Amino acid sequence: RLSIKKITTGSRELDNILGGGVETKTITEFFGEYGTGKTQICHQLSVNVQLPPEKGGLSGKAVYVDTEGTFRWERIEAMARAVGLEPDKAMENIFYQRAYNSDHQISIVEELFSFVPKNNVRLVVLDSVTSHFRAEYPGREHLAERQQKLNAHLHQLMRLAEAYNLAVVVTNQVMARPDVFYGDPTVAVGGHVLAHTPGVRVQLRKSKGNKRIARIVDAPHLPEGEAVFVITEEGIRD
Ligand code: GTP
Ligand code: MG
Repeated sequence: RLSIKKITTGSRELDNILGGGVETKTITEFFGEYGTGKTQICHQLSVNVQLPPEKGGLSGKAVYVDTEGTFRWERIEAMARAVGLEPDKAMENIFYQRAYNSDHQISIVEELFSFVPKNNVRLVVLDSVTSHFRAEYPGREHLAERQQKLNAHLHQLMRLAEAYNLAVVVTNQVMARPDVFYGDPTVAVGGHVLAHTPGVRVQLRKSKGNKRIARIVDAPHLPEGEAVFVITEEGIRD
């Protein structure tokens, strides 16, 4: 049995509330409103997974599934340089995939079961995991179908994480007004999407300027409390 490993987020405080970093063999969901840093964290983890273990990485590669078209190679270059990785190498070690709709997203993940073990992939990012599902199954009349598809997709991701001892990181945008979600069974009150799947849920909020606040939701095994981190030119930091 392979043991659980952790990937540093770049912020010691955020790592601490996560119990050392983002874990393998599980799904970690970052949820929060627009601009809270979900995409920046995904970029940072895609770089940091490449670091050697003594620097908080897994000497591995990342798959980045982008559903919203917000991935930026320039951001990877800057973050790589800041942690002492060769930018061209760091970019080569990220397998970028744009997912155009939910069926495409699902089939990308299915193909990962053969791709991942051949390519030393230790991190799979889905930014965001929910946007296509929300767009394609709108309104109350599609809720049951959307929930069923999304749950099957999340279970598939959980199997991938467990089978290959890798970290799966997903993002989920929630609106500032939580009342929008009342009555929606695919999101728990508070807004995360992993209500019916095991995993770690991290709520992000904005603070002053480039400061952000993270809080772990519903995780009895992790320390309580909040972490403050910043988003800088170099990336995610304390
Ligand atoms: P949505 O996808 O809209 O839900 O937002 P998000 O949570 O993914 O936010 P994202 O990670 O895209 O951005 C969060 C913040 O990061 C932005 O508001 C910017 O302040 C900051 N940011 C993004 N790019 C850069 C950059 O290149 N340099 C610096 N210093 N900050 C950046
Ligand atoms: Mg984003």
